[in-house]
Amino acid sequence: MNQPLETGKNLEVLLDEKRIARRVRELGAQISADYRGRELHLIGILKGAWVFLADLVRHLEVEVTLDFMNIQTYGSSTNSSGDVKITKDLDVSIQDRDVLVVEDILDTGRTFRFLQEVLLARNPRTLKVVALLDKTSRRVVPVRADYVGFPIPDVFVVGYGLDYSQKYRELRDVRVLRSVPSL
Ligand code: IMP
Ligand code: MG
Repeated sequence: MNQPLETGKNLEVLLDEKRIARRVRELGAQISADYRGRELHLIGILKGAWVFLADLVRHLEVEVTLDFMNIQTYGSSTNSSGDVKITKDLDVSIQDRDVLVVEDILDTGRTFRFLQEVLLARNPRTLKVVALLDKTSRRVVPVRADYVGFPIPDVFVVGYGLDYSQKYRELRDVRVLRSVPSL
């Protein structure tokens, strides 16, 4: 890192605030239509998905309940090794519920595959995933999100909840962090 990092304003914008807002509204409408008349149980994956979840939930026109799970993926800050662990589990049962996992980004797919296995074993009525971002070209495990905000190229992004070493989550846009040696 050779740049001042305090604000992230020097990082190139990949998706600006307005574009994200428009797409989140569309996703909300689509999900609302698909789940009409049902109660939707949202599971936000901490920490990256919290900003997306907060915006998405306000565009849903179905009854929702909410829970959170914290998943830790081991590896470097920008490359996961594949070891995944639950560091905060759900508070309530998902049995017989229509569950929608809310993720910030699908990268190799390892985190979501792990989640799928763990959650399906708990017998939800249905299990789907919405990911704000999808780096399809990076997939190692063949998983697909049911709803995707934006497919993005193989770059490391921060902002709108996503971090690099816990920084930049507060940025309103999704920005590209270029100066990562492992990319
Ligand atoms: P996967 O298991 O490789 O699919 O990793 C998904 C997780 O890695 C996401 O939930 C993020 O926490 C993190 N991640 C992957 N790519 C990025 C990125 O470009 N920026 C920030 N976090 C990322
Ligand atoms: Mg994450």
